[in-house]
Amino acid sequence: MLHQGFSSKTTHLNQQSSRYLHVITWGCQMNVYDSNRMVDLLRPLGYKITDKAEQADILILNTCHIRDKATEKVFSELGRLKQIKDYRNQQGHPTLIAVTGCVAQAEGNIILQRVPYVDIILGPQTYHRLPKMILDVARQSGHVIETDFPVESKFDFLPTPQENTGYSAFLTIQEGCDKFCSFCVVPYTRGAEVSRPVQAIFDEATHLCQLGVKEITLLGQNVNAYHGKGPDGNIWNLARLAEKLSTLSGLTRIRYTTSHPRDMNDSLINAHRDLPSLMPFLHLPVQSGSDRILKAMNRGHTASEYRQIIDKLRKARPDIALSSDFIVGHPGETQKDFEDTMQLVRDIQFSQTFSFKYSPRPGTTAYISTHQVKEEIKNKRLQALQTLLKEQQNQFNKNTVGLTIPVLFTGKGRKEGQLSGKSPYLQAVHVQSDDSLIGHECQVKIKESLSNSLSGVLV
Ligand code: 5AD
Ligand code: SF4
Repeated sequence: MLHQGFSSKTTHLNQQSSRYLHVITWGCQMNVYDSNRMVDLLRPLGYKITDKAEQADILILNTCHIRDKATEKVFSELGRLKQIKDYRNQQGHPTLIAVTGCVAQAEGNIILQRVPYVDIILGPQTYHRLPKMILDVARQSGHVIETDFPVESKFDFLPTPQENTGYSAFLTIQEGCDKFCSFCVVPYTRGAEVSRPVQAIFDEATHLCQLGVKEITLLGQNVNAYHGKGPDGNIWNLARLAEKLSTLSGLTRIRYTTSHPRDMNDSLINAHRDLPSLMPFLHLPVQSGSDRILKAMNRGHTASEYRQIIDKLRKARPDIALSSDFIVGHPGETQKDFEDTMQLVRDIQFSQTFSFKYSPRPGTTAYISTHQVKEEIKNKRLQALQTLLKEQQNQFNKNTVGLTIPVLFTGKGRKEGQLSGKSPYLQAVHVQSDDSLIGHECQVKIKESLSNSLSGVLV
């Protein structure tokens, strides 16, 4: 979760001349990308980004709906934003609140009923209409809501990014999902699977590189199902797209997330062998190690098929680091099913992972199952799984101690004189250095493995 919070310090509002925008982003990397694109859309209208909510003329809350309590969390945050809006209004500074993202998509009408002081409700497929909606609110002085799945693609209406927001950037290449896993709201909130054309992606990546970006993470809910129209008129897959992007000078690192085991084809596996800029890291959610539960989840593969994919990947790129998502306590999960998950984890050995208790989501098929697992069992299983996964992460990190690896420095570390960057395996790495190396990839000898990061020295 990424939260661009705000300081409680009050600014001198009367001295304010520019218009300001404050964005709070919850959820996945795609939401981070979407937030940046909304900023790009509003910049030509004179809005500057501020990290102080109380300075902002527009407050955007970009939300996530993947697990429960999402809506309640939105309401409590909106309560806080309302106080800021009221205060600013009293000072003569009209302020708009916009709720965007997947909660807006799924529960926009409920939000408007409960908190009418929200001005704009905007789903993930319509945020290119944000500038017009702001004008509409100003004209009508009432709220506006856009949660349809429009025929036009928002990507055709987004401006080219204008500012360097860092050396590592996200680029959405595919959106939506047609897989309908039993537990997941994404097909309902993000809509059907759509791939952007190769040329549009290449142009955006070229532009990011011109702004100084060295690493691009290609994003999609099913990124490895990518099938976009190529410049030759044929449909290109992710491997072919990655190969084309690897020709961009200045782009040292390419990553992609999130993949589905069903779409992990040989060309992509071989790309990990053949493309030096494709980083040796793969986030490939398995969710469960039990065939029975994988079937109930509608995942479309078995545990042994997942193991086979991993074997192939490790043959193609022996040092590849593996990441995954797990859900414990899906309806119908028995202790035996859970043990199968633990066994799969022991067999594969992951470098870093995300694991969750199953959270019932209205509208999904698992929600209506009568075989819900008790909360206390979910808690126990999650704890056991996370203990095992943490051990594996620690072990993976320890294995890098003594190695010399390239680190892309993206900013300052928390401590004085420290730089922070990422290893090819997506581990956080800290070294003592001056700022001149920010934005560069340097060789670092890893000296120590800490709980969530590595420390090393420049070679
Ligand atoms: N309950 C728990 N975890 C979920 N995820 C998605 N939906 C749910 C749910 N209803 C997890 C999956 C997915 C990740 C993004 O979130 O593991 O891969
Ligand atoms: Fe959700 Fe499954 Fe689609 Fe992933 S593949 S977004 S978990 S429905």
